[in-house]
Amino acid sequence: MVLSHAASDTDASHSTFASPYVRTSLPRFKMPGNSIPNEAAYQIMHDELMLDGNSRLNLASFLTTWMEPECDKLIMASINKNYVEKHAYPITTELQNRCVNMIANLFNAPLGETETAVGVGTVGSSEAIMLAGLAFKRKWQNKRKEKGKPFDKPNIVTGANVHEVCWEKFARYFEVELKEVKLSEGYYVMDPEKAVEMVDENTICVAAILGSTLNGEFEDVKLLNDLLVLKNKETGWDTPIHVDAASGGFIAPFLYPELEWDFRLPLVKSINVSGHKYGLVYEGIGWVVWRTKEDLPEELIFHVNYLGVDQPTFTLNFSKGSSQVIAQYYQLIRLGHEGYRNVMENCRENMIVLREGLEKTEKFNIISKDEGVPLVAFSLKDSSSHTEFEISDMLRRYGWIVPAYTMPPNAQHITVLRVVIREDFSRTLAERLVIDIEKVMRELDELPSRVVHKISLGEEKSEANGDKLRVTVKKSDMETPREIINDWKKLVPDRKKTNGIC
Ligand SMILES: Cc1ncc(COP(=O)(O)O)c(C=O)c1O
Repeated sequence: MVLSHAASDTDASHSTFASPYVRTSLPRFKMPGNSIPNEAAYQIMHDELMLDGNSRLNLASFLTTWMEPECDKLIMASINKNYVEKHAYPITTELQNRCVNMIANLFNAPLGETETAVGVGTVGSSEAIMLAGLAFKRKWQNKRKEKGKPFDKPNIVTGANVHEVCWEKFARYFEVELKEVKLSEGYYVMDPEKAVEMVDENTICVAAILGSTLNGEFEDVKLLNDLLVLKNKETGWDTPIHVDAASGGFIAPFLYPELEWDFRLPLVKSINVSGHKYGLVYEGIGWVVWRTKEDLPEELIFHVNYLGVDQPTFTLNFSKGSSQVIAQYYQLIRLGHEGYRNVMENCRENMIVLREGLEKTEKFNIISKDEGVPLVAFSLKDSSSHTEFEISDMLRRYGWIVPAYTMPPNAQHITVLRVVIREDFSRTLAERLVIDIEKVMRELDELPSRVVHKISLGEEKSEANGDKLRVTVKKSDMETPREIINDWKKLVPDRKKTNGIC
């Protein structure tokens, strides 16, 4: 129902919660005809938002949920600055350039007479990936055109563990075939040998991931580079590498400085990183850096004449806020190498505390590795009575948001729970989470199994392929509940991946 009360003289005498504004439901479909007082609007909205999950306890997310109050002040002071108005806010532009320089340097970009890295701030890794992918596509097309070869079937090689929204979106929106290296049980990242086998003359690049979304593992970019160098030599192609370092880009330089994954490898031409993940900035900032300006085709850069000033831009949208760029620069100079290393080391120690706590219960297999993004991905050793999804549901009652998801094709029978360790997830919280998981496991042991042993779904028509599927499952047909889940999945059209996590 629409609020239609105009402010009256008597409003001030009502308690907030007895005022006319909170005595009716908020409008949902049509803008109300009348205004309401700001205090009432604030209170009503604040109260409804209380029902969102607690972001600090959202262990599903890599994204930053805490920053220092001094940085909050800088963010609020620049909340009304449009980033693209470079003539009006030249200092903000200068800060973004300094961030690009520092990040390029962190990723060992060669700096010299002939090679100068270029880069740009984006809304997140997703936009950064679209831009990097476009640059590869255009460079490949230009070369094919020069040689008089067809240029209408570009493809990109990735692992099936690739972030589904970003990379599939890039492939679909920009008409590039995504060739995925399948995973297998126990091996949840792209196998460099298989990836290089899949490369052909239409491959615009191989995308490696530094910090898989599924289990935090770093892919072996060095091996990929070395194998691809050989293949390029044999074939005369020059297939390059992009590194999706959304999470790992701000971890590896501090925890594993010797690990070669970045511009130290000659075929790595561009890298994306999420400033809003381990870059330690609130939601809304990512970065993409190219090894040299030749790796970013000039025709993709728009020279906008904005109020008489030439502004080169290479982003997908025009206007955006400045706060996150400013916040990124704050973190880089406030923390420095020392501070980032401290934060990452602390995250790794808390990850180990959590991993050891889970191992002690003897109920879980650990799917994540100690080297990689500080997270713990784990699955039940025995899921014959209860599933990871039930654990996720029950943890919600204690306030924790811990996602459960199935792995991509060829490993989709594995379900995992994943806890991302962020800066603000303290030792006390890690220990508390172990205690709560133990409680949940005890509660589950006392509950009757909710795993269905006999389901009869009759005849169902799958809209995806027009096939008729008949799923009649008897206990004897089903060795484990995972097989039941897999049978259900057959009924869901085009359900290629179920890992809806960020
Ligand atoms: C490997 C990887 N790439 C890309 C993304 C998307 O990043 P963003 O949320 O910054 O757009 C994610 C998000 O989790 C990721 O893990």
